[in-house]
Amino acid sequence: MTARGITDRLGSLAFGGDYNPEQWDEETWREDDVLMRRARVNLTTLGVFSWALLEPEEGRYDFSWLDAHIDRLHANGVAVDIATPTASPPPWFTLAHPDSLAVTPDGTRLVHGSRDTYCLASPAYRAAARRIAGALAERYADHPALALWHVHNEYGTLCWCDHAAVAFRIWLRARHGTLDALNDAWGTAFWSQRYTSWEQVLPPRATQYHKNPGQTVDFHRFWADEIIAAYREQRDAIRAHSDRPVTTNLMLQYNLRLDMWAFADELDVVTSDHYPMAPGLDAAANAAHYADLSRSLGGGRPWLLMEQGTSTVYDGEQVLGKEPGEVLRHTLGYIARGSEGALFFQWRQSRAGAETWHSAMLPHAGPDSRIFRETVGAGEAVAALGALAGSTVTAQVAVLDSPDAMWALEANGLPSKRLDHQAMVGAAHRALWDAGVTVDFARPDQDLSGYRLVVAPSLFLLSDEAAENLRRYVEGGGTLLVQHAAGYVDDRMHARLGGYPAPALRETLGIRVEEHRPLRTDQRITLSDGSHGTVWSESLHTEGAETLAAYTHGMLEGRPALTRHRFGTGQGWYLSTWLDDAGYGALVQRLLKEAGVAPELPDLPAGVEAVTRHAPDGRRWHVLINHTPDTVPLPSSAHDLLTGTTLAELAPGGCAVLEGAR
Ligand code: GLA
Repeated sequence: MTARGITDRLGSLAFGGDYNPEQWDEETWREDDVLMRRARVNLTTLGVFSWALLEPEEGRYDFSWLDAHIDRLHANGVAVDIATPTASPPPWFTLAHPDSLAVTPDGTRLVHGSRDTYCLASPAYRAAARRIAGALAERYADHPALALWHVHNEYGTLCWCDHAAVAFRIWLRARHGTLDALNDAWGTAFWSQRYTSWEQVLPPRATQYHKNPGQTVDFHRFWADEIIAAYREQRDAIRAHSDRPVTTNLMLQYNLRLDMWAFADELDVVTSDHYPMAPGLDAAANAAHYADLSRSLGGGRPWLLMEQGTSTVYDGEQVLGKEPGEVLRHTLGYIARGSEGALFFQWRQSRAGAETWHSAMLPHAGPDSRIFRETVGAGEAVAALGALAGSTVTAQVAVLDSPDAMWALEANGLPSKRLDHQAMVGAAHRALWDAGVTVDFARPDQDLSGYRLVVAPSLFLLSDEAAENLRRYVEGGGTLLVQHAAGYVDDRMHARLGGYPAPALRETLGIRVEEHRPLRTDQRITLSDGSHGTVWSESLHTEGAETLAAYTHGMLEGRPALTRHRFGTGQGWYLSTWLDDAGYGALVQRLLKEAGVAPELPDLPAGVEAVTRHAPDGRRWHVLINHTPDTVPLPSSAHDLLTGTTLAELAPGGCAVLEGAR
């Protein structure tokens, strides 16, 4: 089952969002019906946070109100994505099961009054979650309006309580087998941490000083598996009654607690939520990053954007008042990259509660508003793109991303606090996005032979198997760029001895890193090619590689900073510092040229996004998004699905979906 299954049912791409009618009255519901038709809404997510209404007391379910809304929506031509409400247990539940409330690393037990008030490892919580998922599925299994099941909401809440400790120990036994193996893996000979019984082993709670790095990474791995186990239980409870696709909305951008690759394997269709924080081009590039990731997680299958905002989100860091036209540009940005539509949080802006000020498709101001007019405009655009359903996106370049590498950088005591996984991966994607190239994300241990160029921006932790895989890729003709601080530790967080990185990668890159030299926050170094580095530098030796740029001062003067190694029929490049944007952009352009990768469409100015969706029958469409304030001539005129006309240029801020030659 894929997102295609959903669009088959809808008869077009999906457009809509979270709908919380329980916050409103009958008159408002009547207005919702009218305005949803006007905005071409065809899919709404119901019940995400409705546990207290659906199960007002333990074991007594009340579905009558939900029945009425689903029937009303169905009569209005709107399909439903029914959510299990398990991200927000009601107060009665937490009072009956206080041990189900999450505990923070410092031992504080959190209370109800917000959402995500649970420990996912609590047996009582898990049982209640299974029960309500099964009850919902039994009730709505065959409802004609049902397009999709939406389990939970943005999994990723962690807990350090005693239930978590029990589950962690079970997981550790399965991974390590014996206590001796655990002691060895965690290097407990250091600081007198040796465990002599399993009961002594704890989650990494608040400690006096640095925590054990092996314990930190294993705790993340444990939770990632536990989250998937919790999802599976609900999914299976649903599948016992219903054959419609089941998913959960992944929060890939902020929620760094998931093994997104393993999780995606469990989903009938990958769905994800995205809220860019920075304005303008940065927002569009960030949307492209997480859209490309969402597609890649499903191996290129169509996916679905489950949530985006129409404007501001919260206070502080998360403010992004979208500019006029951005709702459509972002919507098309996700669709360009394989989403089978675009949904929002939420349909109608709440008038009370914790997200009163979060933007929505229909704002407080009502339908006579810029935001609602933009919602309608986006709905009309999506409705014109039905032909794209089921078409896919292909990429010749991959950026490597791995949860292990991300969690490794969360350990205490690393040589720099500025090894920021998300930032490094984001910068690699951004440079490729700026170059107009479509990018997949890939795991370091997966088959990479289909890519001409692979960029590995953040692989501090690299297993022997993954290092071997990279060796095979280059040997077989691939072009690989590996960036600083790669392969320093194995999958147990043990340092590589005899020089970094992992042996197979050293051979591939033809280098040996002898010493790491993190840079101070204000320190900037110059390379012989005129580019500048920050964050990191290394004393490295070439062992077969050629030096393309060297450090120009200090103890590293004259030593290699950027190298290339011809290995097998491919090339392994190594960059031992974090280059400034201009230098990195130039390097990426050079690599693209070496690897023979051209931009998706030629001759487009910077700030114009272009991605092609390919249908199995050979049809294709170029989605073009002009993020600039200028009119942009098109390489050739073509029929545009959005306007139904032939276009020769893109208006400032304008978009087009052009039919391409077969
Ligand atoms: C997440 C949640 C929504 C809402 C939005 C706010 O994506 O799923 O319920 O809280 O964040 O941006």
